[in-house]
Amino acid sequence: MKNYILLVDKDENTLAVLVTALKHFYGGKIHQALSNEEAIKVVERNGEPEVILIDFQILTDIEHDLMQHLFQQKFFVPIIATSDDPQHQNLVNSYPMVSARLDKPVSAKAFSYIIKGVVTSPLVSPSHVPVKFTTLLTLPVAGCDAYIKLAQDNYIKVLNKGDSFTDADAANLKAKGFKELHVLASDCFSLLEEVEAALEKIPTAPGTAPDAGQTVMAIDALEEMQTLAKALGWSPELLEKTKKAVNKALKVLSKNQEILDILNQKLGDVNSPYTRHVGLLCYLTCALGSYFDWVGDSGKEKLVLVSMLHDLAVDEAIYHDINAWNAKASDFKDKAPEVVRYRMHTIEAAKKLHGVAVLPADVEQIILQHHEKADGRGFPRGISAARISHLATLFILIEDLVDCLSEDRTVDQGIEDFVIKGKEAYDNGNFKKFFEVIIRHISKKFPAA
Ligand SMILES: [Fe+2]
Ligand SMILES: [Fe+2]
Repeated sequence: MKNYILLVDKDENTLAVLVTALKHFYGGKIHQALSNEEAIKVVERNGEPEVILIDFQILTDIEHDLMQHLFQQKFFVPIIATSDDPQHQNLVNSYPMVSARLDKPVSAKAFSYIIKGVVTSPLVSPSHVPVKFTTLLTLPVAGCDAYIKLAQDNYIKVLNKGDSFTDADAANLKAKGFKELHVLASDCFSLLEEVEAALEKIPTAPGTAPDAGQTVMAIDALEEMQTLAKALGWSPELLEKTKKAVNKALKVLSKNQEILDILNQKLGDVNSPYTRHVGLLCYLTCALGSYFDWVGDSGKEKLVLVSMLHDLAVDEAIYHDINAWNAKASDFKDKAPEVVRYRMHTIEAAKKLHGVAVLPADVEQIILQHHEKADGRGFPRGISAARISHLATLFILIEDLVDCLSEDRTVDQGIEDFVIKGKEAYDNGNFKKFFEVIIRHISKKFPAA
């Protein structure tokens, strides 16, 4: 009985997208294969499929000839060939069993229309459609809510639209026995369109991808990070998790070449004070963020993104004496042009990033607020603590800590300095609450409970 569709492509991301599209309406089984050889095995085991979708390059692999196999079995299956080479158009015509050709990357919508026209299995309309973790991981943020399926018709929301789904989230769910998430059937195609756009934008050509790696290396190469991690008693797991979050943030940023270029230019030098500042911030925001339940993986990712981007409008030279510049910028009477320019660097960075689709919305807001202060004497706007967002408050505290950890002193001295200054500066509200959590985890004098 013909009750299944066979999808053949060497790219697992492509297969995962097509499976989600099919589950939206197709009631039969779906089998996948990464090569002709695998496809032949599927056909041997399951008999004649209703339809085969196959990458044209795989179809023409003569070593394991799927077409020959089908012919011998007298299986006359409609075949949809996918290809990214326009010259294949004519070649496709020379295969009588090929009934349609689809351009790659395959549009889930176009694919669904064609499949609906050829299959005989009953069509279905489920309330939710499964989406593979790998599909959601291609997106910087989820384009819609996502759920786990506990039982038939019993779904629980685990991811909100606009939040990002991270490798750590996927590992967590896997550990609990889940293999996929579900989205509402009505959200399925808009989500797949976003995935298709994201997959197209991922740089795959040699020479572009390593750029992100180069930045990671510059941050990873900070020897100081090892000393700091040791002094703060971080476990290898925490360090590893932090590294992953930094990598994930870079994966998000690598979808925007312009930002990646700026970062590589700024973070290219392992020994520059800017790289040190950004590197320490990336690690500290991420590691300390894990002590706050409300931050979660998506919050940590946002903090790492802010760490990398918040000072992109600041001149490198400023970093040699950043504390002095911060003091000058907080004095609104100081109207010296270079001070005014520095005071505006938060606005300038936010402006540069405005409209960059890959960034979660509050990244821009945290950047705008990263020099505001608990006492309302920060810059550029001097807003009160109550108006500073939770994530921005946490970022400001951690940046203060980083500023205390200067290279010419030990980590313990830097922490002591942070504790003394903080006790005076953070005497109420969220600043006080978050400060107390931080010092309990970093200061031996206030050991974590
Ligand atoms: Fe900074
Ligand atoms: Fe700044």
